[in-house]
Parts: sequence; C-alpha cells; structure tokens
Amino acid sequence: MPSIIYIISLIIFLSWSRNIIVSAETWCYDTVNPMDQDNPTPVRCPAVTEKSDNIYHDVGINPGASTNMFDISFTCDPTTSQTTCDKAKESFEKAGEIFTSVLSLNTPIRINASLIPLSDDTTLGSAAPARLIPLKCKDKKIRNFPQSLVKQFQFSTHPEYAAVDIVAVFNSKCNFYFEGDPTITPDQIGFLELIVHEIVHGLGLVTNWKPLLNSKPVSELTSALNLTSNSDSTQPVVYYGFIETIFDSFIVTNAGDKFSNFTEQLNDFTPYGTKFQDQSAFISAFINSPEYNISQMVLSYSQTAYSMVFLADPHSELVWLESNINPYSKGSSISHFSMEIYDNTTDFLMTYIQHPGRSLETALQQNNATCIIGPKLLYLLETIGYATPNNPNPQKPSLIEFHSTKSKTTSWKNSNTTTTTTTTTTDTNDTITTTDSQTTTKPTTSSLFSSTESIIFNNNYGWINLVISLSVGGLFFASGGWIF
Ligand SMILES: *[C@@H]1O[C@H](CO)[C@@H](O)[C@H](O)[C@H]1NC(C)=O
Ligand SMILES: *[C@@H]1O[C@H](CO)[C@@H](O)[C@H](O)[C@H]1NC(C)=O
Ligand SMILES: *[C@@H]1O[C@H](CO)[C@@H](O)[C@H](O)[C@H]1NC(C)=O
Ligand SMILES: *[C@@H]1O[C@H](CO)[C@@H](O)[C@H](O)[C@H]1NC(C)=O
Ligand SMILES: *[C@@H]1O[C@H](CO)[C@@H](O)[C@H](O)[C@H]1NC(C)=O
Ligand SMILES: *[C@@H]1O[C@H](CO)[C@@H](O)[C@H](O)[C@H]1NC(C)=O
Ligand SMILES: *[C@@H]1O[C@H](CO)[C@@H](O)[C@H](O)[C@H]1NC(C)=O
Ligand SMILES: *[C@@H]1O[C@H](CO)[C@@H](O)[C@H](O)[C@H]1NC(C)=O
Repeated sequence: MPSIIYIISLIIFLSWSRNIIVSAETWCYDTVNPMDQDNPTPVRCPAVTEKSDNIYHDVGINPGASTNMFDISFTCDPTTSQTTCDKAKESFEKAGEIFTSVLSLNTPIRINASLIPLSDDTTLGSAAPARLIPLKCKDKKIRNFPQSLVKQFQFSTHPEYAAVDIVAVFNSKCNFYFEGDPTITPDQIGFLELIVHEIVHGLGLVTNWKPLLNSKPVSELTSALNLTSNSDSTQPVVYYGFIETIFDSFIVTNAGDKFSNFTEQLNDFTPYGTKFQDQSAFISAFINSPEYNISQMVLSYSQTAYSMVFLADPHSELVWLESNINPYSKGSSISHFSMEIYDNTTDFLMTYIQHPGRSLETALQQNNATCIIGPKLLYLLETIGYATPNNPNPQKPSLIEFHSTKSKTTSWKNSNTTTTTTTTTTDTNDTITTTDSQTTTKPTTSSLFSSTESIIFNNNYGWINLVISLSVGGLFFASGGWIF
C-alpha cells in the first residue's frame, strides 16, 4: 500500500509539473535608462525553463557562504579619474554586502551601474528594476514584480529574464564623498548612502501610479496602462487594463482604503480587449469616463500629507509614504518614505532628500541606527516577498497560466457553471460597433482539491489529473493518511 501511494503521488507530481504552462503571450516591462522610467517598454517574455543547476553557478556565487550576492557591472565615464572610479566600484561592493547581510538571497542580483554625466544637474542618480514581470498574487490579481525578486522565487519555468536585474546611473558631475575619504565637506553627497537608496528602488520600491497624460500641472494618476504599444500613435490601440506593482498592492489611504481597489475601479473603464482608433481616441474616452474621477482622487491623495500608508505584513507596521509634495513630483512622491516622519529616524534612508555633508557613518550615529536598512524598510522588503532571517517564508506569487484555445472548448462531464465573456469594440465617436460574445464552460470542483483547482482544470491534461486526484484522494482516506 505505501508504495502504491508513493507511485501515484509521483505520477500526480509529474503530470502536475508538466501542466504548468506559462503563457507565450506574457508581456514584461523593461527600463533601459533609469532616467526615463515614465514608460517602461513592453517586451515579450515567453516562458523559459531553467536548467536545474544553472540558477547561480553561472556567476560562481554560493548562496549562504557568500558575503556579496550582487554582481555589479560598472561603467565609469572616461573623464572621471581612475581613483574616483575605483572608490565608486568599492562602494558598490560594500552596498552589495549590506543587502546580502540583511536579506536571505538565494539567487544573485545583477546590477548595471554607470557613473556618467547626467544632463539634469540636480539629479544625483536613479535606479529601476530592469524588468517588471507580471505574476499572479494570492488574490488572483496580476501585478508587476521586479525581476530581482522574481529570481528569488526560483521558478523552474518563468518568463524570460532581462540580462540584468537593476539598472542604475549616478551623476559624475556631483561632488561625492566616499567612505574612508578625509572629512566630508558640507556640499558633498555620501555616495554609499545614495547607492543603497537607489538599489532599494531597483529591488522593488517602485510604484506604477504615474500621470497618464502629459498635462502640466499633472491632473491625474493611474496605475500603469497596458495598451498594445505601437510607435505610431495614429494606429489602432487595444486596451488591456491598468496594472499595479507588488509595492502598490500594500498602499492604503489614511482611511484604510486600498489603492488596489482604485486600480480595480479603474479597470471598470472598458472591457479587456477594447479597440480604439488611436491613442487620442483612448485618452478622450478615458477623460470622459467616470474612472477619470478615481485618477484625480489618487492624485489628490499623493499631494496630501499623511494620506498614503504602506501596510506591512504580517506585523501591521505602518510606513507613511511621501505624499506631502505639492504639486506631485514624479520620482519623489509616493515611492519614498515620508520626509516629515522618517528624516532623523532609523528609517532615514528612503526619504526623497539626502542630506549633503553627512557620511553614512555620521548618519547612522545621528539617528541611533545600527544598520542603513531601517526596521520599517526591512518589513517593507519582507512584505513584497524578500526572505530574511526573521521572515524565511514570504508570500510567493504564481505564474500566469496559459489558457490554450483547446482547453476552452473542452467539455466537462461535471460542468454546470456557465460564464459569458463579452468583447466590445469601440471607435472614436464612442459608439459601440461590434460585440462578440463567447460562452465558456467552467467545471465545478470539490473543495478537497480547491488548492490545485486552476492547475487541474485550465489545461488539456485536466481530466487525467482529475482521475488521479480522485483516486489518490480515495486512497488517502482508505489508508487513513500518508504512509512513506
Ligand atoms: C549597461 O549600461 C551601459 C551604459 O548605460 C550600456 O551601454 C549597456 O548596454 C548596459 N548593459 C546591459 C546588459 O544592459
Ligand atoms: C498586456 O497586454 C498584452 C497584449 O498587448 C496581453 O497579452 C497581456 O496579457 C496584458 N498583460 C496583463 C498583465 O494583463
Ligand atoms: C472599494 O472602494 C469602494 C469605495 O470606497 C467601496 O465601496 C468598495 O467596497 C471597495 N471594494 C473593495 C473590494 O474593497
Ligand atoms: C469625484 O466625483 C465625486 C462625485 O461625483 C465628486 O464629489 C468629487 O469631487 C470628484 N472628485 C474629483 C477629484 O473630481
Ligand atoms: C532633521 O535634522 C536636521 C538636522 O538637525 C534638520 O535640519 C532637519 O530639519 C530635520 N528634519 C526634520 C524633518 O525635522
Ligand atoms: C539617540 O539616543 C540618545 C541616547 O539614548 C538620545 O539622547 C538621542 O535623542 C537619540 N537620537 C535620536 C535621533 O533619536
Ligand atoms: C445544474 O444547475 C441547475 C440550475 O442551477 C440545477 O438545477 C441542477 O441541479 C445542476 N446540476 C447538477 C448536476 O449540479
Ligand atoms: C461614428 O459612428 C458611426 C455609427 O457607427 C459611424 O458610421 C462613423 O463612421 C463613426 N465616426 C467616426 C469618426 O468614426
């Protein structure tokens, strides 16, 4: 009996794992230049299967034993002195060691960093996830995850990764202070504090709430729009909803309303797949929709002090976000810790202004901090999914499954639930011109197998799994439990 159960569970495992099919249609969002994060570029990221042993061996890092899980490819502007370049490189090593000591990373993180002259003299630097990857959360909603985090989930099959995880640039025109230099001057910027701050953005402290239109002043904020991209703005576009980041999913208003709910309400705008004649047709339809009001409301939250909070799990820690810059400031509002609240605290790192004339050592001393990664920031990173020694099993999203056309037409013996999806096509003058209706049948399922429901039913091998699951379920009860 035990060996039968073992063999059957092996079969179910094998058939289960072959059934996870990641959509070949998956779209990811890439940022190549962190100074231009407004519209990450949609790119296809079809499923790839990892060879079981190449997860980290390719960079020669042994997790657990390593003191630096960051692999930094560093470009230094030729006009910068070799000494400065070397010190900058050393700072990146140090930053990598800091993150490695607080996070339980199992897969190396690759950063493409450059120290180059930036056209905007006031910008010290900027960083972003090189790729945002859509994954399905426990609440069945699809959200964008930073690639560095997706790698830590170690999916054997996953959407294709970009060559690097984080892109970062720093302004070589700035007067930087490097740890170990003689006394810092009042106008110098501590380089180590700066790069650690920027890497946190690259690791996932990023929001998809951004202005949709180029209006000045900004008149609305929406989650990122998924519209079929076309360089020619006069070509027809297809609307595929608004999508938030995993960071965004934990933001609530001071009254406790989730920003996810605002994203959900924005998604009532029009059905998925709605076609518009061109981009301006889409924009005019959006401005005239009731959802436009939601986007104005979100803008108003982002400009009102103490109105946006990141609710960290499971400690229910509140992290007040920067919502006191008026007018809204792209790159500063929302994706930072509140300046009023956290400047001069152990969580000083993620405020949007870095004090000049302060070395990291002094900053830590002044703020009674033992680590540059403050306690609230650590909760935030744990909440979005990074493992730490105190939180070894963070929440893990799942891959978006592939619903092949074949499985849609499969008829089920036990099916009794019918759903109808309607695709509506709209043109510029806002009249509905075509309506396609499609009826699909969903099977009902017993609660015993509900945890594997989507995997069992949304593929072509569903019936095999169902039969095996039922027989294993029967054996499970007949034998009174698993015996190995
Ligand atoms: C890294 O950044 C440099 C400078 O911005 C760029 O030339 C290079 O292509 C980037 N490499 C990768 C792998 O993205
Ligand atoms: C975004 O749009 C593409 C089509 O352009 C679609 O295939 C994809 O599923 C959409 N992504 C999400 C997360 O809805
Ligand atoms: C979303 O917010 C609206 C308005 O505040 C509220 O009526 C609704 O119940 C909320 N929905 C969810 C799922 O929280
Ligand atoms: C949104 O609509 C409500 C009700 O129509 C209105 O009271 C509110 O002022 C509007 N908000 C904005 C930001 O326009
Ligand atoms: C933090 O301390 C510095 C130096 O004492 C001071 O200039 C700054 O205003 C303080 N920040 C806040 C938000 O109080
Ligand atoms: C740091 O600790 C000292 C001694 O406990 C205290 O006097 C000081 O106010 C603290 N500073 C901050 C910024 O909390
Ligand atoms: C299917 O649904 C109908 C209507 O809801 C119900 O009368 C019927 O009993 C159901 N059949 C089964 C097999 O559950
Ligand atoms: C507006 O709708 C009408 C009726 O469907 C259609 O004949 C006409 O071509 C549309 N106008 C434009 C500018 O698309």
